[in-house]
Amino acid sequence: MVPVRLAGPRLALREYRHTPEEVDALHALYGDPEVTRYLPFEPRDRETCADQLELYLEEAMAEERGVYRLAVVRREDAEDPEDALPIAHASLTLGKYRSAHLGYVLSRPVWGRGYAGEIAGLLCELSFGALGLHRLAARVDVENEASAKVLTRLGFRLEGRVRHDLYKGGAWRDSYRYALLADEWSGPAGPPQGG
Ligand SMILES: CC(C)(COP(=O)(O)OP(=O)(O)OC[C@H]1O[C@@H](n2cnc3c(N)ncnc32)[C@H](O)[C@@H]1OP(=O)(O)O)[C@@H](O)C(=O)NCCC(=O)NCCS
Repeated sequence: MVPVRLAGPRLALREYRHTPEEVDALHALYGDPEVTRYLPFEPRDRETCADQLELYLEEAMAEERGVYRLAVVRREDAEDPEDALPIAHASLTLGKYRSAHLGYVLSRPVWGRGYAGEIAGLLCELSFGALGLHRLAARVDVENEASAKVLTRLGFRLEGRVRHDLYKGGAWRDSYRYALLADEWSGPAGPPQGG
């Protein structure tokens, strides 16, 4: 496996490690009902998060990697991103014909700082750069306005509405599909600002 390491101005994406602290960090995300509100699953307990982390590491070791689940850390928290604890989660699931679906989940205390745009930008860099993909898509609950803004700002285009895409909390939910093609991507962000 070639470990993924990507850095933006404020954030870095790296592989997960199976430590109790990283399980806690994942649980801080997935245990929070506000965070999972528009995600296709209910809040998860710590044990489930530990199992998930194990799965992420197994997926990363696959001979042909089809899924990238990455820890997002703040660069200001440690000189080496390996030493900083995750504050968010990023994912890329590869599909046919050089395509992938992206995802990002941030812990509530760091919402509203524009971090999701930086994460999605780094996932574009990985997808259209090193992985040579052609199409990057995202599924967004129709009520998740913040996520729709993040994607639109990066140049993703709305392709349609999928009715009753998800059954959650006793109700059907619709979602939007957004996508960005390789030649629509504006390219990697400039060098990190500041120290
Ligand atoms: C949705 C999410 C990724 C947004 O990340 P973020 O880093 O907080 O987003 P930003 O700070 O860049 O905010 C994005 C925009 O949405 C706006 N916004 C934030 N919350 C909003 C809300 N409840 N309704 C409408 N707009 C909202 C912000 O004002 C901002 O717009 P602006 O830049 O024009 O002011 C984050 O809240 C999150 O992780 N939520 C839980 C998991 C999730 O939904 N993931 C996405 C699945 S598709």
